[in-house]
Amino acid sequence: MTSTKNEHVERGPEAAGETVGAVFVGCGYAADFYGATLPNYPHIEVKGAFDVESERAASFAGEYGGRVFGDLREVLADPDVSLVVNLTPVSQHYTVTKAALLAGKHVYSEKPLASTLPEATELVELARERGLLLSSAPSTVFSQSAQTLLRAVGDGLIGKPRLVHASLDMGALAFMPYTQWRSRRGVPWPYRDEIANGCVMEHAGYQLSWLVAMFGPVVRMAAHTSLQLGGQWPEHTEVAPDISLGFLEFADGTVCRLSIGWVAPADLSLTVIGDQGTLSVGDVWQASAPVMLRRNARTSGKTNAYLGEPEQLPFVIPPARHRYDDTHDLTVGAGVADMAMAIIKGEQPFLSADFSLHVLDVSLRLSEGRGVMEDVPVRAGDDKKLAVAPAGAGTAAR
Ligand SMILES: NC(=O)c1ccc[n+]([C@@H]2O[C@H](COP(=O)([O-])OP(=O)(O)OC[C@H]3O[C@@H](n4cnc5c(N)ncnc54)[C@H](O)[C@@H]3O)[C@@H](O)[C@H]2O)c1
Repeated sequence: MTSTKNEHVERGPEAAGETVGAVFVGCGYAADFYGATLPNYPHIEVKGAFDVESERAASFAGEYGGRVFGDLREVLADPDVSLVVNLTPVSQHYTVTKAALLAGKHVYSEKPLASTLPEATELVELARERGLLLSSAPSTVFSQSAQTLLRAVGDGLIGKPRLVHASLDMGALAFMPYTQWRSRRGVPWPYRDEIANGCVMEHAGYQLSWLVAMFGPVVRMAAHTSLQLGGQWPEHTEVAPDISLGFLEFADGTVCRLSIGWVAPADLSLTVIGDQGTLSVGDVWQASAPVMLRRNARTSGKTNAYLGEPEQLPFVIPPARHRYDDTHDLTVGAGVADMAMAIIKGEQPFLSADFSLHVLDVSLRLSEGRGVMEDVPVRAGDDKKLAVAPAGAGTAAR
């Protein structure tokens, strides 16, 4: 398998008026992120919602449309439903996605695809055998910031990328008032699940998806993890490591220093350093964070300056009209929208099953933190690249 760099992907015009029937399974905290953005994407027809807590499905359908399904079997038996959007807790992803695939439904899953690599691999193979599409969040790679950064890297604005400094340090979660966090419909933030899953499984994908899209699959890596603030959580809380420091080498030779954690003060930045300058985004959780370019500049005399003044790049796609009003804007609906468009066009989504599987594989290696450099096997399809904005991704015009 070859790793094609910065492959230009064209989607072509949308088939007029075609829609994809979608049901949202799991209507908890994150479901509001999706619901609020659905009006951006008229080709997603919200058929309804199902949650084992039926009042959550009722409030989701009441707010965002469609009907309440009584159980998963009813969802899967409905011929008008083509796409299941799996927003259940991580522990349920495998079971719900597998049932949906076995019933002939395409699946867009919240991250991670599954809890273990064997389970996720089984799902990817099942989807392939059945000719179904499978994709997984995060989909922040469709944001204005990501698409602009990817285009700038692909266009060679900083020459050959060499090094990346990337962080998904959320701040010291243990000291935040997380028990009080509520979604728009008043659903509490499921902190016990989040703390048990840990910062890596919850958050690594936000940086990895951009990096793999820019530089190809990770081919070698090492990681260290540890638990530093383990004593700060409520009693009887299962706790995963709260720091992961990774060193990644990508297929095109770019290397990356990656920090993920719930200990250091918030830093969600990404800086790509090339032969001819740097490109940086201050916050990958903000769909419209400025993308800053600094070109190498000629200097003379006794100075250690070598970069020109920062220039803000114009965004290459328009903003999404309907956003979820939160501390961060994760562009979640764009992943489902891209999946629905792929169903209509009979293509693979940008975040293909193999792409999602690779991100999970690297995330698991980061969370294990074995310390030594190891090769990462590259699977067929991992070379899929997102170099430029798919026509109108993240916009109403899509
Ligand atoms: N919480 C966040 O800030 C956030 C942000 C982005 C993504 N995510 C991801 O979204 C997913 C869901 O997280 P959440 O925060 O919404 O969790 P949550 O616990 O608030 O919501 C999950 C919902 O799924 C329901 N559920 C559980 N098992 C089910 C099943 N078998 N069938 C149908 N419904 C079932 C639960 O009743 C609950 O309402 C996770 O993968 C998480 O990683 C969470």
